[in-house]
Amino acid sequence: MTTALVTGASDGIGLEFCKVLASRGYHLVLVARREAVLNEISASLVAEHGIKCTVISCDLSKAKAAQTLFKATQKQGLEVDFLINNAGLLHNGFFTDLSLADQEKMMTVNMLALTSLSHLFANDMASRQGGHILNVASLAGWMPIPNQNIYAATKAFVLSFSQALHDELNAAGTGITVTALCPGYTATKMMDNPDQGAKLAIPAGMMQSASQVAEQGIDACLKGRALWIPGLSNRFTAAITHLFSKMALAKIAGSFYRKNLSQFSAQ
Ligand SMILES: NC(=O)c1ccc[n+]([C@@H]2O[C@H](COP(=O)([O-])OP(=O)(O)OC[C@H]3O[C@@H](n4cnc5c(N)ncnc54)[C@H](OP(=O)(O)O)[C@@H]3O)[C@@H](O)[C@H]2O)c1
Repeated sequence: MTTALVTGASDGIGLEFCKVLASRGYHLVLVARREAVLNEISASLVAEHGIKCTVISCDLSKAKAAQTLFKATQKQGLEVDFLINNAGLLHNGFFTDLSLADQEKMMTVNMLALTSLSHLFANDMASRQGGHILNVASLAGWMPIPNQNIYAATKAFVLSFSQALHDELNAAGTGITVTALCPGYTATKMMDNPDQGAKLAIPAGMMQSASQVAEQGIDACLKGRALWIPGLSNRFTAAITHLFSKMALAKIAGSFYRKNLSQFSAQ
């Protein structure tokens, strides 16, 4: 049976990836910072699906976290054939009001850890002639977004990196597929987390469920797609971004975010 490693497995879309994979018989490696939460999830998935589950607590914002995590999997003899780079951070708000340390952490988790894990596990997968990498980008990566500028830029990085890597590994005949998943607004704690600066008010009708996003992401990855945008309205939004210049998109997104961002303390 195949083993999948999911980062950000303790909550939101990552937890749903784990549930979908466990229901399909995958063994799992659960990665996030909160070890106690991961242990509870592991116990429940093992009891329900009879799979093997390994918990590795890891803070991906720390230096060389990806290398430490990769070594931990090797030490435990785990052969990861499916890597899901899902862990991600979001900070909303005016650029100079947000702490620089938080912005640096966001760049480290969203880009550096994802890239390093892709490199380490792709090498390992190539030695076994195959595997899957699913990188969670975002619809936010399709446009510059004032007041969410670094987050959107990190997701543009994930999108571009993953699409290029898909072609590169495919052309080299490695047997490894790489998929960029671009969810739109998804109902998780990320959309309502006071640690992230300002809160973005989104009408419930614009939100997808985390389980829908996870199920579609895994299906797209197993089909070897380079890109998947879950939801018709999100695919429509991505398509119309091609009709505008980047600066026009920044102005449209900026006006939306300025109208809909509010401070958590004022709630
Ligand atoms: N929600 C949305 O609207 C939306 C839309 C598009 C894309 N996305 C992307 O989808 C992915 C998952 O987001 P989500 O909405 O499910 O977020 P979430 O509910 O806030 O969950 C984030 C997960 O990442 C883990 N995490 C956070 N910081 C970490 C760190 N330093 N090291 C290791 N793990 C860390 C958290 O676990 P611990 O706290 O236990 O570490 C948690 O399991 C992200 O990449 C996000 O950018 C989300």
